Amino acid sequence: MDRTTIKDIASRAGVSITTVSLVLNGKEHRIAQETKKKIINIANELDYRPNQLAIGLITKRTNTIGLIVPDISNTFFGELAKGAEKKAAEKNFNIILCNTNDTASKDYEYLNVLLDRGVDGIILVPSGRGRDETIPKCFTLLEQCQKPFVLADRIKVGDKYSGVTLDQEQGGFIATNHLIQNGHKKIGCITGPLGMLNAYLRYQGYRKAIEEAGIEYHPKWVREGNYHIEDGVELSKALFQEGVTAIFACNDLMAYGVYQSAVRAGIKVPEELSIVGFDDIIFSQFSEVPLTTIHQPTYQMGETAVQKLLALIMDKEEKNEKIVFKPELIIRNSVKAIQV
Ligand code: RIB
Repeated sequence: MDRTTIKDIASRAGVSITTVSLVLNGKEHRIAQETKKKIINIANELDYRPNQLAIGLITKRTNTIGLIVPDISNTFFGELAKGAEKKAAEKNFNIILCNTNDTASKDYEYLNVLLDRGVDGIILVPSGRGRDETIPKCFTLLEQCQKPFVLADRIKVGDKYSGVTLDQEQGGFIATNHLIQNGHKKIGCITGPLGMLNAYLRYQGYRKAIEEAGIEYHPKWVREGNYHIEDGVELSKALFQEGVTAIFACNDLMAYGVYQSAVRAGIKVPEELSIVGFDDIIFSQFSEVPLTTIHQPTYQMGETAVQKLLALIMDKEEKNEKIVFKPELIIRNSVKAIQV
């Protein structure tokens, strides 16, 4: 069925197209109240929906923003997208969500797709894999296209772009320190991909806590993962061999993998192995042994990223800034105090 046009409303109401356009664009100051009411009733009756693209050509804005995330199967990014959507909807903006499977070449591809569709701005959570050669290309493209953009979660605090993230190093420190405060000295760490800044900073937090506690650092107690459950399952096996009494997994999904591997190996959690995660995604409070973890205000980070982006879209004078949230330790049942 054809979409209703202003022309359809004008002929049904027996008035000019200009009159209808003035009423529907809120510029009806010299039109009789009665005529205005008739036009709006007919527009609703015919389910008239303004053609955003047509309006976009006039206003040079489509009220649409792009959101590029690495892995929508990880509820961390689902929560981020929900917060972003809520804030966007409040301001009559729509979100186009793109999933890259953590592959940087997809970041570049989707940036072009979104720019082709005339989005007003972009929120990017850069991917992990294939970063080195592609991510710089993404930034060059974003700078050249002169569209406002905000980086979320995986950002470089020192760069010139706007970004929303968590104090990753502090988070890694708090997680490891909690294990140290519970008497653990043989603490394993399964990191995210160390080429990715937030992963590297969490690992730095682990090192800092270990060293500040005067515990000797053992590189063989550290394994590099990719933020996937399977990494927790596979990489924890070697750490069990090392005789660690606790593992800091740098995201909740890998922590679930550690737990599964422990169960398979007949290792009791937390009696024989303590586990701390990072993210506090929804399932962590419901897992068989509720997971002690670092809470990221992910929904709020999504809202804040959109708020910052809309400020950059609306006001060309708006400055770039970094918004860094504080990590919070959520203590549940996966850590047990030990005497050594
Ligand atoms: O769980 C996925 C991880 O990747 C999260 O910790 C988040 O910070 C993202 O970067």
